[in-house]
Amino acid sequence: MKKVGNHKSFSKIFFSLAFMLTFSLTAFSQDAAKGKEIFNTNCAACHKLDAKATGPALRGVADKYDKEWIYKWVKNSGDLIKSGDAQAVKVFEENNKVPMTAFPQLSNEDIDNILAYTSEPAPAAAAPVAGAPVAGKDGVTESGVSNNVILGVLTLVMAMLIVMLFLVYNMLTKIADAKGLEIVKKNRSLMGLFNAYAKNQFLVLVSAILFLLVSAYFAYGYLMQIGVDQGYEPVQPIHYSHRIHAGDNGIDCKYCHSSARVSKNSGIPSLNVCMNCHKNISEVAETTATEEHSKAFYDKQIAALYEAVGWDKSLQKYTGKTKPVKWVRVHNLPDHVYFNHSQHVTVAGVECQTCHGPVQEMEIMKQHAPLTMGWCINCHRETNVKVEDNAYYKKIHEELSKKYGVSQLTAAQMGGLECGKCHY
Ligand code: HEC
Ligand code: HEC
Ligand code: HEC
Ligand code: HEC
Ligand code: HEC
Ligand code: HEC
Repeated sequence: MKKVGNHKSFSKIFFSLAFMLTFSLTAFSQDAAKGKEIFNTNCAACHKLDAKATGPALRGVADKYDKEWIYKWVKNSGDLIKSGDAQAVKVFEENNKVPMTAFPQLSNEDIDNILAYTSEPAPAAAAPVAGAPVAGKDGVTESGVSNNVILGVLTLVMAMLIVMLFLVYNMLTKIADAKGLEIVKKNRSLMGLFNAYAKNQFLVLVSAILFLLVSAYFAYGYLMQIGVDQGYEPVQPIHYSHRIHAGDNGIDCKYCHSSARVSKNSGIPSLNVCMNCHKNISEVAETTATEEHSKAFYDKQIAALYEAVGWDKSLQKYTGKTKPVKWVRVHNLPDHVYFNHSQHVTVAGVECQTCHGPVQEMEIMKQHAPLTMGWCINCHRETNVKVEDNAYYKKIHEELSKKYGVSQLTAAQMGGLECGKCHY
């Protein structure tokens, strides 16, 4: 009896401990993941976790100082130093009086997350991350399905015709036999079959039509492929991985493609933007290597970036010798089409991934969508315009929704199908 009781309470304690441990671990790692993102966007330009950069190494910094002090420091270290805070002055002077950027926009919670990240234990020896990046779902497109259906139907019709021909031929032979007509032997040969066919005008007509239909179908398919570069994945001068930057390190798309929000073009970032971080990140962590690409491979790519901007790693100085990188353009609409990013990203609130696919999983950038006219128009037919918080649209929307008698309006109903909107 007693033994059982003991056992029970022991397992109870054990399980609640295990529960608490997993719970605190997950809570911890969630914060750390968020913190890593904030750290990479704001702090990585000057801080590394385990080595001194412009600023000191930050691993374990939460144990060094009082939390309240760190909040004040990060939000505005300059103010803290000016106020004569002894600790702040000391840190400032120990680091050659290089001022740190102020981050008044970060909340205490953000900073807690950063500290959760910097408090993670240093990774042990690297296990290569298994698994190549997941390919985008480039499965069957809508037109692909209907094309296959057409092809199937055509094949079926062809087969039925052949069977019918055969039956008719058999029937005729039988009738001839029954009537005692003599069938010339020659007719049974292939040549004879062809002669009989050539004499039958109806059959010739039907096959001619079939032939035209099939070739028109293939010609159409071929023409429709012109200028459609879905899946286009050129080799770039520097192997730049969106998976590592936008995925693993959670860097916001707009950090690099900052003009997507405000202008027609998204633009490719200049190499100066890269150097905000890469003055300090001269090599990747062991854990970044995959089966496909080794750490040495990635480090060589960063070295190529240094060569392009003329950065001398050992002297920590620009040499002035630059070799501009010519990125190969992936997406490219014909000149007669007008497409505007801010209209879609800011006004319509469409996610980058809706059009560009799971970029954060792409090791190499590729064209995800077909970029055909049908693709644009389909989406305009299906997507409702966001009218909330938009005084400009409210009025137009009210009038138009009365006209169409609906409460939601698609981009098409707002004029998104007019040729002039997309064509110069
Ligand atoms: C422009 C470069 C720069 C950026 C960006 C930057 N720091 Fe700093 N940081 C410094 C420098 C330099 C110091 C050393 C003190 C000084 O000279 O002001 C420092 C010191 C610190 C310290 C004190 C460390 C110690 O061991 O004494 C903390 C904590 C800190 N930074 C946190 C952050 C956080 C968190 C971020 C991102 C939100 C950040 N820093 C972004 C340059 C930067
Ligand atoms: C650290 C900077 C950086 C971040 C963050 C970043 N990109 Fe890029 N992006 C680049 C560079 C550099 C290129 C050009 C090289 C290439 O095509 O891989 C590029 C190319 C692209 C292209 C292809 C451009 C073309 O030539 O047609 C698209 C689309 C794109 N990025 C979308 C995104 C999206 C979506 C995100 C967020 C999930 C993102 N990027 C995050 C730097 C960045
Ligand atoms: C906000 C900070 C940040 C910016 C901006 C940034 N990088 Fe990186 N970069 C990183 C981090 C973090 C890593 C990964 C380091 C690791 O895995 O240890 C990395 C890794 C790399 C690598 C090696 C992996 C790979 O992608 O092949 C290359 C090359 C690279 N960056 C090039 C660039 C280029 C080119 C730009 C500018 C278009 C750029 N980076 C902009 C933070 C940045
Ligand atoms: C509605 C679909 C759509 C959305 C949403 C979208 N893009 Fe694009 N993007 C395109 C098309 C189409 C092109 C080709 C434009 C051209 O050739 O003129 C393009 C081109 C680009 C390019 C190549 C350079 C340029 O500006 O032409 C980059 C980089 C890019 N997009 C990044 C982004 C980022 C980052 C986001 C999210 C902030 C985004 N895109 C959202 C459709 C979209
Ligand atoms: C993911 C869906 C989506 C795709 C794909 C898309 N659009 Fe749009 N587009 C929208 C939405 C939603 C709006 C309405 C934005 C607004 O509120 O004005 C819009 C608006 C527009 C407008 C302004 C129309 C007006 O009434 O002023 C133009 C021009 C346009 N798109 C061009 C294009 C072109 C060109 C393409 C293809 C290369 C394209 N769009 C692909 C969703 C899309
Ligand atoms: C939502 C945007 C949009 C609207 C509205 C639109 N187009 Fe297009 N159109 C495109 C795009 C994108 C292409 C480029 C397709 C490609 O390169 O495959 C294109 C291509 C074309 C072409 C060249 C043939 C081809 O397939 O490349 C013609 C002709 C054309 N459009 C006529 C029209 C006419 C006429 C209208 C009005 C009924 C119209 N378009 C409305 C986006 C649009």
